[in-house]
Amino acid sequence: MRDQIIDLRQPRYAYSDFKGLLVTEGEIHLRIVKLAGEICSDYKEKKLVMLCILDGACEFCADLSRQISLRFERHFVKFASYGNSAISSGKIEKLLDFPQGLNNKDVLIVEDIIDSGRTLANILHEIRKYRPSSIRTASLFSKPQKRLEEFSRIKIHYNGFFIPDEFIVGYGLDYAGKYRNFRHVAVLKKLR
Ligand code: IMP
Ligand code: MG
Repeated sequence: MRDQIIDLRQPRYAYSDFKGLLVTEGEIHLRIVKLAGEICSDYKEKKLVMLCILDGACEFCADLSRQISLRFERHFVKFASYGNSAISSGKIEKLLDFPQGLNNKDVLIVEDIIDSGRTLANILHEIRKYRPSSIRTASLFSKPQKRLEEFSRIKIHYNGFFIPDEFIVGYGLDYAGKYRNFRHVAVLKKLR
């Protein structure tokens, strides 16, 4: 953990609410440039449609998009979160629905973090109904230790960082709606 990093731009709450920094904005930027390069070469001949999963993936998707030098569509989708309740049937409440015309397109789902894998499994289940040519997934963070066995086969094609089993915030990730605007990614102190 980067307790030692002194960044005078950090707000005061960073020192009391966070255990330490996990990833800095500079490291995120470098990783995004790398992932964008891979996406550019993989989607050169394809009809890329990026689907940004709100709210958490907002920052990641915006920065990733700007590093991709292809013509592509980008849409935002939003689902209700049911916490840890099992919705293994694949049903999710859509607050902002999938766009029309995904048929025969190459969909790239952009998520902030994959924990148990349930959210992503449900989204994949829904998107398949629209019959795109291909579906791939990008996530800035992934917690392999938390992945449930039933979702272990789901592939993250473009993964930013594998992280330990810690609750992180910043760069779009929140706790109770807060800390999304923190520029780095930090580990939150014990949840109250
Ligand atoms: P999953 O369905 O268990 O994979 O959980 C994925 C969702 O839980 C993410 O889209 C986040 O909204 C939330 N989440 C999981 N871990 C964290 C974390 O460490 N920080 C912030 N949100 C998280
Ligand atoms: Mg999310």
